[in-house]
Amino acid sequence: MKVDYKNDIESVLLSEEKLKEIVTSLGKQISDDYRDSGRKLLLVSVLKGSVVFMGDLMRAIDIPCCIDFMSVSSYGSGTSTSGVVKIIKDLDTNVVEGADLLIVEDILDSGKTLSYLKDILLRRNPASFKICTLLDKPERRLVDLKADYSGAVIPDAFVVGYGLDYDEKYRNLPYVGILKPQVYEK
Ligand code: IMP
Ligand code: MG
Repeated sequence: MKVDYKNDIESVLLSEEKLKEIVTSLGKQISDDYRDSGRKLLLVSVLKGSVVFMGDLMRAIDIPCCIDFMSVSSYGSGTSTSGVVKIIKDLDTNVVEGADLLIVEDILDSGKTLSYLKDILLRRNPASFKICTLLDKPERRLVDLKADYSGAVIPDAFVVGYGLDYDEKYRNLPYVGILKPQVYEK
């Protein structure tokens, strides 16, 4: 059987070239903003959706930084937030105190996941806390949360690729595309 899941993509929203441009620009802004802070810059990626973005973003940052990962569950296999956020994997490092913490997220949708994470991480006393999201769907926000760095504001459509999944699939597409609604409506 031929499996061609690119047929499930309605249209390409952000091409590989565009993503590269966005990530380069974010990396430059972040480097410039933290260059003289004198503190440890800790990039925290929220698994799994942001791994591809994290991999590219960290190489676009030209100042010293450390990386760590957290995993939370928010979605299951549906396309809208369940409201239930659970920590599956916490940070390895216990030295958040005094560090400049920068969360690296794939997409800010309702904002529930990040607002929950923010509460937990602020209790660990970082010197600063900021959010860098590749994609932002402000129309869908249910809590008061803004990204400090945002790669692209996108319309309210379900997107996959460049790390983002539907039901754990499509993460390896090199671009961000809009998923055909019939894929998740069937
Ligand atoms: P929030 O808590 O509603 O902001 O959800 C954030 C998480 O939901 C993201 O980290 C993604 O894993 C997932 N998500 C939200 N919108 C999309 C989408 O369009 N495509 C794929 N995953 C999404
Ligand atoms: Mg997901």
